[in-house]
Amino acid sequence: MADADLAAEVHHSGGSYPVVAGWGTINTLGDRLTDLGLTNTAYIITDSNVMNLYGRSVQRALQNRGIPAHCFIIPAGETSKSFELAQAIYNWLAGLKAERGHTIISVGGGVAGDLGGFVAATYLRGMPFVQVPTSMAAMVDASIGGKVAVNLPQAKNLVGAFYQPKGVFADVQTLSTLGKRELAEGWAEAIKHGFILDASLVDVFEEHAEALMEVEPEISTEVIRRSMAIKANVVSQDERETLGIRIMLNYGHTIGHALESSTEYGRFFHGEGVAVGMMGAATMAQEMGLHSQELVDRQRRLLERFNLPTSAKGLSVSDILNGMSLDKKSQGGSNRWVMLEEVGRSVVRNDVPKELVEKTIRELVS
Ligand SMILES: NC(=O)c1ccc[n+]([C@@H]2O[C@H](COP(=O)([O-])OP(=O)(O)OC[C@H]3O[C@@H](n4cnc5c(N)ncnc54)[C@H](O)[C@@H]3O)[C@@H](O)[C@H]2O)c1
Repeated sequence: MADADLAAEVHHSGGSYPVVAGWGTINTLGDRLTDLGLTNTAYIITDSNVMNLYGRSVQRALQNRGIPAHCFIIPAGETSKSFELAQAIYNWLAGLKAERGHTIISVGGGVAGDLGGFVAATYLRGMPFVQVPTSMAAMVDASIGGKVAVNLPQAKNLVGAFYQPKGVFADVQTLSTLGKRELAEGWAEAIKHGFILDASLVDVFEEHAEALMEVEPEISTEVIRRSMAIKANVVSQDERETLGIRIMLNYGHTIGHALESSTEYGRFFHGEGVAVGMMGAATMAQEMGLHSQELVDRQRRLLERFNLPTSAKGLSVSDILNGMSLDKKSQGGSNRWVMLEEVGRSVVRNDVPKELVEKTIRELVS
């Protein structure tokens, strides 16, 4: 029977997997894992915030279907994406005599997802892995595509792998417990998906901005599904980021990452940095004649309706430029800019004049 909650299938070199979003999906997880043949013992990796909110319900849903489920709770926050915690989870798995046919399930935001996936990729040279994303960033981005990692003191995501899950199951209802600011920064990534690849998704955001900020069930689920489908489609075409397709998802990230790092991750949430970065990229693209000023204004209006920042007043131009020079996606020392040609269509440009970049950054901070 067709699955009404199926957002997309990701196809990769080793097979394919379903990406699902629904309202109350957690309660169906026992059946869903059973459908995938994952009925052996499950090890849930979740964080200290998500455990009581959703970890227990996931555990109960599995146990109700006869799937034994254990939980490992990591402290909430980015610092948990570490070798130390991976090691602690390995020890825990060894103590419980985890086997290669058992399942690791990440329940939470991108941190639980990336860390749980890293452990799944490496323990016993790979165990089946399932993602149950509960933050917006994890739903529309981190849980899809198989990038798993831990951080090193030198930089984020420095050690990791491409390791695809067996399934991604998002319960959109979980978004209701996110704070408004966390919600908005998550929507920023989904809005970005619309601007680079799906003009009609931008229309939906414009029509339903307030309902989306209230996590109104029907429209929120629809938009999450569409946004997941965009990410799933991109990673299916470019599994390992080698073909220049996956890089489109980096719209807004060149400046966005630099804003995050130059403020030591203290002022901007990731999605907020991306929102400012989208404005910077759009301003430059307009100056280069790629698209109209009307597009720049339309993007600004939409981001503002989600209370997202569109400038970075007071920051230092040189700190931002310095942060950009460390961008992992740069090639031969020059930044690769994702820019729009129109709403829903994007290109990568290597030829953005240095003066234009500096002028745009100056405008963003003044
Ligand atoms: N693998 C990828 O492709 C990819 C893509 C984007 C981001 N990431 C990674 O994801 C991480 C960021 O993800 P994130 O923003 O989800 O961070 P996170 O996992 O730290 O979650 C943010 C906060 O929200 C809380 N939370 C999660 N779900 C909640 C809910 N439903 N209700 C209330 N609180 C909830 C968490 O406990 C945490 O405090 C970064 O480490 C980033 O590198 C990975």
